[in-house]
Amino acid sequence: MSAASWNAAPGAPLRGEVRVPGDKSVSHRAIMLAALADGTSRIDGFLEGEDARATEAIFRRLGVLIETPGAGSRIVHGVGIDGLRASDAPLDCGNAGTGMRLIAGLLAGQAFDSTLVGDPSLSKRPMRRVTEPLARMGARIDTGEGGVPPLHVHGGTPLRGIEFDNVLASAQVKSCLLLAGLYADGETVVHEPRPTRDYTERMLAAFGWPIEFAPGIARLTGGHRLRATDVRVPADFSSAAFFLVAASIVPGSDLLLRRVGMNPRRTGLLHVLRLMGADIVESDAGEEGGEPVADLRVRHAPLHGIDVPEQHVPDMIDEFPVLFIAAACAHGATRVTGAHELRVKESDRIATMAAGLRALGVDLDEAEDGATIRGRAGGALGGNARIDSHGDHRIAMAFAVAAQRSGSPVTVDDVANVATSFPGFESLARDVGFGLTTA
Ligand code: S3P
Repeated sequence: MSAASWNAAPGAPLRGEVRVPGDKSVSHRAIMLAALADGTSRIDGFLEGEDARATEAIFRRLGVLIETPGAGSRIVHGVGIDGLRASDAPLDCGNAGTGMRLIAGLLAGQAFDSTLVGDPSLSKRPMRRVTEPLARMGARIDTGEGGVPPLHVHGGTPLRGIEFDNVLASAQVKSCLLLAGLYADGETVVHEPRPTRDYTERMLAAFGWPIEFAPGIARLTGGHRLRATDVRVPADFSSAAFFLVAASIVPGSDLLLRRVGMNPRRTGLLHVLRLMGADIVESDAGEEGGEPVADLRVRHAPLHGIDVPEQHVPDMIDEFPVLFIAAACAHGATRVTGAHELRVKESDRIATMAAGLRALGVDLDEAEDGATIRGRAGGALGGNARIDSHGDHRIAMAFAVAAQRSGSPVTVDDVANVATSFPGFESLARDVGFGLTTA
């Protein structure tokens, strides 16, 4: 995106308290279901990031009145399951794969045509994973050449439920089909090779849609209605992850992360960091808006390399950039396998992480589905490096973390997209001790 860059260098040991912003996945879904419900829903803890706001702007264009009573809050005047209206302009999902894939499912069931577009990164991401099963349901969607955006979704095509055995462990694909299933004749069933985050299922149930789900399977039928309900969005574990790793690798750190979302389908990194020797203690476990939350106290601890168990991969799919940084600071080798999906995220996260880590002097082997990273243990990472984050928010934040253990300053380029998921990261990080400024 833009040319914004950071200067990052070791700051102080990380200390104090951090409250990270609302969960991105939950924020997208809350807008979508509230928009389609009968009645008025209030959303609190909404992520004021560009991805969630892009979804909000799309539903406004589709005729939904959404008020902003204050930062992080929305009042959504639902139009009912059949109440959306055609947009006279393309619908811009920005950087958000979740937005585009889920909304494609919803739009497939409408009476009108729509066009979904995205930014340069999203415009390269694979969409056949949703357009092919949607076509089996009867949808007609044109893609750009090679199955990438823009998506032109033809309306007025009757949908029928299918039973879909996904080869990918993808919450986005599952959610897309379930949302199309709201408009389908009969039953839609999605099976997954490994369980993925179940926010769509839980939120559909909260909005009163009959749905059955268990880890690895979800099923619903079309033809019901959604009932407005209030949603409390938990803090995003994926945003907390940067602080979990930073405090683990910076000597002298002792950080408290408050009220973090602890849905088990999101906390794979916690298990993996503990296997590596991290000192992370949970307290005050509770529930917010039907989601588990807890405080996490993380103190510096020497980490050692491990083979990351593949069963954790879907539960930490967004955390690999920062896990690679933990691995680079660990004693011995860390091996990641079974994570092909990293190749098709906001950037090719295996390639962008490998290039950045090599620039910091880290020895690693790249594989198609992961990497083996040989950690530098007690030693500093190299510095005086320039890292290209390729406009990928999580790559940018991962290298801001890495720089806290570098021998000399690191420049991280192309960081504007951090605002897609974690607005305010830079100042929050600085407040607890990061050496981090805008270049
Ligand atoms: C998401 C699912 C994951 C994740 C993404 C958000 C979601 O993608 O990487 O950041 O909200 O459903 P996949 O389902 O493609 O793995």
